[in-house]
Amino acid sequence: MSQLTQTNISTLKLCFFGAGSMAEAIARGLINKELIQAKQISMLNRQNAERLAELHGQYGVQTILQGGANESYMRNADIIFLVMKPKDAAEAIASIKSFVSPNQLIISVIAGLSIRAIEQLLGGQTAVVRVMPNTSSTIGLGASGISYSDKVTPQQRLLTEAIFSSVGINAVVDESLQQAVTGVSGSGPAYVYYFMESMIEAAVQLGLTESAAKDLVVQTVLGAAEMVRHTGEEPAELRRKVTSPNGTTQAALELMAENRFAETIHKAVHRSAERAGELGEAIERSINE
Ligand SMILES: NC(=O)c1ccc[n+]([C@@H]2O[C@H](COP(=O)([O-])OP(=O)(O)OC[C@H]3O[C@@H](n4cnc5c(N)ncnc54)[C@H](OP(=O)(O)O)[C@@H]3O)[C@@H](O)[C@H]2O)c1
Repeated sequence: MSQLTQTNISTLKLCFFGAGSMAEAIARGLINKELIQAKQISMLNRQNAERLAELHGQYGVQTILQGGANESYMRNADIIFLVMKPKDAAEAIASIKSFVSPNQLIISVIAGLSIRAIEQLLGGQTAVVRVMPNTSSTIGLGASGISYSDKVTPQQRLLTEAIFSSVGINAVVDESLQQAVTGVSGSGPAYVYYFMESMIEAAVQLGLTESAAKDLVVQTVLGAAEMVRHTGEEPAELRRKVTSPNGTTQAALELMAENRFAETIHKAVHRSAERAGELGEAIERSINE
């Protein structure tokens, strides 16, 4: 096993402990971007053999069905990803304590689970990364918040950032800001879907067909996001530019402001961040029980 003294992941062995949608998104990103060959990746779960067969068939990754065992894949891995649901995490992580060595890098995407809790479950000697990706990672357009324990080396940081760049963009944040990341980009896609749903409903009320309404709204959201990225201008500046005095856009924006649009979004983002904290505390309590 390597000591992770390199910044290229192509020769490393990666093990995904949990073989669900987020594990698949990350593995697919790495394979599609040709950062690593599929045979270097193993994906494990507790019971769903059909799922493992599907992942092997689609990507060529290793699973226990290809003849290894969870334990051997785990021991031989340079990087172990913890990718199970929060409710399964404590038991799953405690079960691998005896296989994990200080040379390995642990990357957790489990929402709410702190680095300290993972260190506690693993015995404290391992380098741990905590990542909050989002659902758009599945199409390579994710936004991930990344936090490191003090045992993570500069090389391991580069590797982590290369891995998550393959499924989108990254922001490295202090762990205390992971709740904020959850409120913004973790839950964020659903806020945008909600906005789109409302736009589509209004378009249909105005007489457009469901299909035309959807096409127009999807392209409007895509185009607006791309305008911000492409021009580098602030959203507020772009908004001002498209708002003619006494025009249609101004009429709509005034109605939104009267109905506290910005304040509602602020409160929603804060509430999501607060809820992330509550869920994290519940996980910590369950570990200490
Ligand atoms: N999906 C997202 O957009 C997203 C975004 C941010 C963060 N996350 C985080 O990513 C994590 C995974 O989410 P997901 O959506 O990928 O979940 P998922 O699709 O339900 O997959 C969970 C996987 O974990 C396996 N598993 C459960 N307990 C296990 C154990 N004890 N040992 C080994 N494998 C076990 C499950 O298979 P078996 O039941 O067969 O064991 C399944 O393959 C969650 O903690 C979530 O908070 C997800």
